[in-house]
Amino acid sequence: MRPWGYAPSLLLLLAAGAPAGKQIVLHGNDNGAMPCAACHGINGQGNAAIGAPALAGMPAPSIVSTLNTLAARPSATAPMPSIAAALTPRERRDVAAYFSSLPKPAS
Ligand code: HEC
Repeated sequence: MRPWGYAPSLLLLLAAGAPAGKQIVLHGNDNGAMPCAACHGINGQGNAAIGAPALAGMPAPSIVSTLNTLAARPSATAPMPSIAAALTPRERRDVAAYFSSLPKPAS
């Protein structure tokens, strides 16, 4: 097999991140993560009334690292630690890819 034979499938895999992330953002996952959109808004615009920050247009790496930090935070009462912990590392990257692909909310 030519070494570059894998390139197209690798690209497909990377591009698949955002749609998989959208699924989780809108519907949650089977591991108890609530849909992100319920609090952060369908367009990732956030919801000031409940203190959920906007995630749209945020760089994916910073979303992933925040989720990793939240998931590792023990016994926090806020909703995010348990939600973050319910996401696999792959799912954290997928939701981050999706949110970062959305246009930043005008504020
Ligand atoms: C029940 C409401 C709720 C749901 C559902 C929810 N969040 Fe949050 N999220 C919050 C609140 C409130 C904060 C701010 C307080 C905090 O950081 O705990 C927050 C903070 C965050 C932050 C930190 C943003 C920053 O700028 O500090 C990230 C990233 C995040 N959420 C991602 C997600 C993702 C991804 C999902 C879906 C898997 C999700 N949230 C689902 C309420 C929610």
